[in-house]
Amino acid sequence: MQFRCLPDALSAVLGQWSGDTLAVGLFAGSEERPEHPLRGELLKAVGAGLQQRLEQRRFKGKPGECLSFEQLEGTPRTLIVVGLGEPAGFDLDGLRAAAASVAQAAAAAGAEDLAVALPCEGFENDDAGRAIAEAVRLSLYNDQRFKSEQEPRPLPAMVSLIGLPASCAQALEAVSGTCAGVELARQLVAAPPNVVTPQHLADTAAALARDHGLELQILERDACEALGMGAYLGVAQGSDLPPKFIHLTYHPAGGAQRRVALVGKGLTFDSGGYNLKTGGSQIEMMKYDMGGSAAVLGAARAIGELKPAGVEVHVIVAACENMISGGAVHPGDILTASNGKTIEINNTDAEGRLTLADALVYACKLEPDAVVDLATLTGACVIALGSEIAGLWSSSDGLSQSLQAAAAAGGEALWPMPLRSSYKAGLKSPVADLKNTGPRPGGAITAALFLQDFVSKELPWAHLDIAGTVWCDKGRGLDPAGATGFGVRTLVNWICSGAPVAQQT
Ligand code: BES
Ligand code: MN
Ligand code: ZN
Repeated sequence: MQFRCLPDALSAVLGQWSGDTLAVGLFAGSEERPEHPLRGELLKAVGAGLQQRLEQRRFKGKPGECLSFEQLEGTPRTLIVVGLGEPAGFDLDGLRAAAASVAQAAAAAGAEDLAVALPCEGFENDDAGRAIAEAVRLSLYNDQRFKSEQEPRPLPAMVSLIGLPASCAQALEAVSGTCAGVELARQLVAAPPNVVTPQHLADTAAALARDHGLELQILERDACEALGMGAYLGVAQGSDLPPKFIHLTYHPAGGAQRRVALVGKGLTFDSGGYNLKTGGSQIEMMKYDMGGSAAVLGAARAIGELKPAGVEVHVIVAACENMISGGAVHPGDILTASNGKTIEINNTDAEGRLTLADALVYACKLEPDAVVDLATLTGACVIALGSEIAGLWSSSDGLSQSLQAAAAAGGEALWPMPLRSSYKAGLKSPVADLKNTGPRPGGAITAALFLQDFVSKELPWAHLDIAGTVWCDKGRGLDPAGATGFGVRTLVNWICSGAPVAQQT
């Protein structure tokens, strides 16, 4: 799928354009407001008969409203009209939602050469172009890898963005790299746990290293033992599959002004261990417990393709499974992490933080300018924020703000959450330095506080709990039902804007 800009007004474009499907966005009530440019342009281009047809079909211009007029005479053959709601509330997310509906309707109509006219006046051209193009491509993602029979689903080969200047071309080029990263993350998350194993994550990292010239180190169990990673290896010890500690590095050409580490939780399956997950705990969905690792590997894929200057990026995943066996961790075991801290395992299902503890210690030893971890860490975060918003905990206001800006630019939602230090009392252990599980109330906060114990004090660090956002039961906006690839766009935008980390407060 290719994107290009057609800078002229809609009616002028239609004189030269020879595609099959045209999509136009209209605000609510625009029939009474002739000043709304696209409606006038549309009538000029398609003919006044359209006015009547819109009235016949009771088009109101509400957000999400989408009409297709197929088998028209001449060009376009298909006209799609999408509602945009009130102009006052129209933002980048509205633009994305409209572009996603348009893409669905266009694909359903068999569009091959699509032109999209959406109002971009209120936005920076690059932001608008990127938002539309990402929404079109990502909403048309379709994964049939595990079906024995493939349903053919032709996609538009060319998508023209009407009314955007040629200067957007560069921004549109970046879309393909970013979306390839999101798609990789979706594929990893959606694949079952008998396919995406720790070895498979390591193989994926190796393929990225080979294809994009990244540096790769895989630490096997003995190397992790030598580094004292007792928390991570404790989680891994119940599985028949060996753990794989993945460290992938992007070195920018011309040297780095900034070095960052991205750490992803990589539990390819989380049974809960001896604190076995029971009915209603979604054990059958715990293939997505590697969503953090999918996000950082997806970001690595995008970065490898986009090659941003000035930022060295370390991608770190302590991959393993949380299983049950005669050799699995007992509830009550005490493990020692690679920074020497001892941890009483009062719940084997709080395993993600144990793997992250050693991964964060490893990341901090690289002395980066910032560490960001992403993890499907707690059910409590799902309860707190639902499935559209990830929780954001950070020791640095500057890092928190720059991540929020990067997320907003990609249409991903983060919400700042507190690192309330008094809640650390909930992790006090009578026998070890700390225990891995606190009380149920505030469980996402104590999980973040647990992680903080494994991060160097002076280092700007952010933790994203993406337990609710990695999976979407029904399609929504640019996410089809299933894996969302959440986090990739935030990370890519943050790194491509120079990975800003303002002064720590
Ligand atoms: N992977 C889960 C968290 C999770 C739960 C993600 C539901 C997505 C949906 C994590 O390892 C876990 O089991 N957390 C426990 C922690 C508890 C034992 C303190 C939880 O949230 O119940
Ligand atoms: Mn668990
Ligand atoms: Zn887990």
